[in-house]
Amino acid sequence: MAKQYLIFLAQQHPTFRTAELESLADLYGFKVDLSNHDENSPFMFVTLDNDEQAKNLISRSILAKGIYEFWGSGNTEEELHQDVQSRSSELFPKYKDCSFKFDFIGYMGKRSNRSKIKLIESFKYVAFEGPIRMKDPEQIFTVLEHYIPPNEHQSATSPSKLYFGRQIELSSREKGVLDKYDLKKRKYIGTTTFEAELALVSCNLGQVAPGKIMYDPFVGTGSFLVAGSNFGALTTGSDIDGRLIRGKGDDTIKANFKQYDTSLLFMDVMTMDFTHNAFRSSLKIDSIVCDPPYGVREGLKVLGAKDPHRFEGKEDVEIDGKKAYLRKDYIPTKKPYELDSLLCDLLQFASERLPIGGRLAFWMPTSNDNFVPTIIPKHKNLELKYHLVQEFNKWSRRLLVYINRGDEYHGEDNLSEITIPEFRKKYFTPNNQI
Ligand SMILES: C[S@@+](CC[C@H](N)C(=O)[O-])C[C@H]1O[C@@H](n2cnc3c(N)ncnc32)[C@H](O)[C@@H]1O
Repeated sequence: MAKQYLIFLAQQHPTFRTAELESLADLYGFKVDLSNHDENSPFMFVTLDNDEQAKNLISRSILAKGIYEFWGSGNTEEELHQDVQSRSSELFPKYKDCSFKFDFIGYMGKRSNRSKIKLIESFKYVAFEGPIRMKDPEQIFTVLEHYIPPNEHQSATSPSKLYFGRQIELSSREKGVLDKYDLKKRKYIGTTTFEAELALVSCNLGQVAPGKIMYDPFVGTGSFLVAGSNFGALTTGSDIDGRLIRGKGDDTIKANFKQYDTSLLFMDVMTMDFTHNAFRSSLKIDSIVCDPPYGVREGLKVLGAKDPHRFEGKEDVEIDGKKAYLRKDYIPTKKPYELDSLLCDLLQFASERLPIGGRLAFWMPTSNDNFVPTIIPKHKNLELKYHLVQEFNKWSRRLLVYINRGDEYHGEDNLSEITIPEFRKKYFTPNNQI
């Protein structure tokens, strides 16, 4: 029989929460209805079939903190006790003899140790007779409290809402994943390295998982690969700039995998222009997660010559008896390319290479200019599942998540019409135009 669970959420990126949890539920093969969630609340109720679903929903989440079997709630302690007794009394005998402890979570406020003990004692009607164990108890019963401070200078003295539940699972966030992947502690980073938290969220939305292959076509310093390997996927990437891939001395993408003890999940990276992709067409790629070049910190370039006439007749140049372009140290010429063309290439590639149901998740920057409409690229085989916005002061970036639905899908297609305003130009325009 379906049960109610309570999720306690992190306060970061609230607009990304439901997409992350829905994606995780879908990855584990079940559905959740999160349509009633209020993004201003740190709590979310969800109905699930069993504790296993609850565990799967939360264990790899970055934007949730923990999930609890819901036993009751109230605006006061008295109301809480009444609700727990009327709603959950048939659960009490089940936990009569197990070892346990009580935990407290306070949002925007907390209670003193004395008051915690008083509240714990007021639960004596549950009649738990097992040993209290502060370390590794069989069950943790949690009081979650929502305080609402009267104003920004004063703190609330008592909670406005109390919830009580049995802890089912804490998320990877609560277990320290953000600290582990903190860029300040990472061996190899560069100016393009993507922050750990949203790289991990992107991989959750991309449904990167053990036994799957994840590809980042603009791999740079490998931030998404590192995040993907945290979730157990085999990872590979490519970038037109071999210097980023090679790193400096011992500071390389490979060294990062070693640092995180995920070397076995690092397939390799290669220098390659995405628009001249050299992967064999039968190579299985399950998820594509990336941050395409938009020209602010890195150039958007493809192979070719800006002025081909300059190179006419030079194809046969030889150095030490070998064609120059066949030498290992040959640096091919590159020419600028438009972001919209690159995004079209990316969607087309995803439609050809992902399995049906496979996901493409990528970031696209946009200026907050009311006069310039934001155009989201669409491909007839790809369902645009999520379009999530992270606002900055004068610009924003969007995480776009697509699912490959195949030839039968016949979705909207705007690839032949899109012109995405050149972000770099706007970014560097004085007078704060973005
Ligand atoms: C926004 S950065 C991505 C950074 C990366 N997420 C990281 O962790 O460092 C975009 C990358 O795209 C690369 N790039 C530009 N044009 C490319 C192309 N035609 N093919 C492949 N990579 C390209 C740039 O060299 C740059 O490293």
